[in-house]
Amino acid sequence: MTTQQHHRSTRHALLAGIATVATVATMALPTTALAATGAGKTEVAQWTPATWHETMRTMPTGDAARGEKLHDDKFCASCHGSRGEALTGNWPLLAGQRAEYTYKQLLDYAEHRRAEDQRAHIMNVAAEELDRQEMADLAAFYEQQGLPDAPKPEDTHPVHQLVSVGDPTRLITPCAACHGSNGSGGINESPTLRGQPEAYFIRTMALFRDGERGNDVAHGMSQFAEPLTDEEIANLAEYYSTEDDATR
Ligand code: HEC
Ligand code: HEC
Repeated sequence: MTTQQHHRSTRHALLAGIATVATVATMALPTTALAATGAGKTEVAQWTPATWHETMRTMPTGDAARGEKLHDDKFCASCHGSRGEALTGNWPLLAGQRAEYTYKQLLDYAEHRRAEDQRAHIMNVAAEELDRQEMADLAAFYEQQGLPDAPKPEDTHPVHQLVSVGDPTRLITPCAACHGSNGSGGINESPTLRGQPEAYFIRTMALFRDGERGNDVAHGMSQFAEPLTDEEIANLAEYYSTEDDATR
């Protein structure tokens, strides 16, 4: 495991607990059971526009109160804080995230479309024991928490141009076209980026860029991340982050 040392022992203990629960739990999603046999990545069903459309159409209505209870009962709180706040810079912020996005990520972890590394594996184990109603309930709970209170990103920032206008010479569509003008989300599964911890942002952008994270329906993110330099990614992370110097 390559996670930060000061959280290591807690996480090992948690994982052991979750793994035990997951092996005895009835698998709610047939495709999950298939992917979880360890038979290999080839069995993972990638999204097509049609399967994604159908998944959105059949997404259960989430109940935030049930989601809050699940967040505690399923140990999500032990890693994601009492309301989905980012406890370490390396893990994502869930609070204020769009429900469709969270629902999709939980499906992607459960069905191993998002299974790049040890950190993703933590979530594969956690998501495998959820059914779709529970995923929708959790997603509703996080959305209800709202984004962290912070000023909107600065127009004078070095990557503001890239974010708002893009770069036609490198075929980069403006991030804002999908992620909203201040990073607080677009439509459907386009996530909010506002408040994502810098370390997590940089790590997941690198996974997109290297073609390791490819769970998005249109595979657009890998295409947008591919031409970016490390410096640009670091600047983008800073642009969207709401961390102040004290928490950085
Ligand atoms: C042992 C720690 C741990 C536990 C328990 C845990 N998570 Fe996570 N979670 C993580 C880590 C680490 C990541 C980042 C994984 C990656 O890089 O793909 C993550 C990622 C996520 C994401 C993706 C967010 C994004 O922006 O893409 C969601 C959603 C999520 N977790 C929800 C949950 C829910 C719901 C539960 C409880 C059922 C849960 N987590 C339990 C550690 C944990
Ligand atoms: C055409 C629409 C589109 C554009 C343009 C776009 N994105 Fe995305 N982005 C998405 C979608 C959709 C996802 C969700 C992928 C998934 O399903 O996991 C995403 C995911 C992400 C994530 C992962 C968030 C998380 O919580 O894990 C980051 C970071 C990100 N985008 C940054 C950017 C940046 C920076 C740019 C501009 C250089 C950009 N995106 C341009 C559509 C877009």
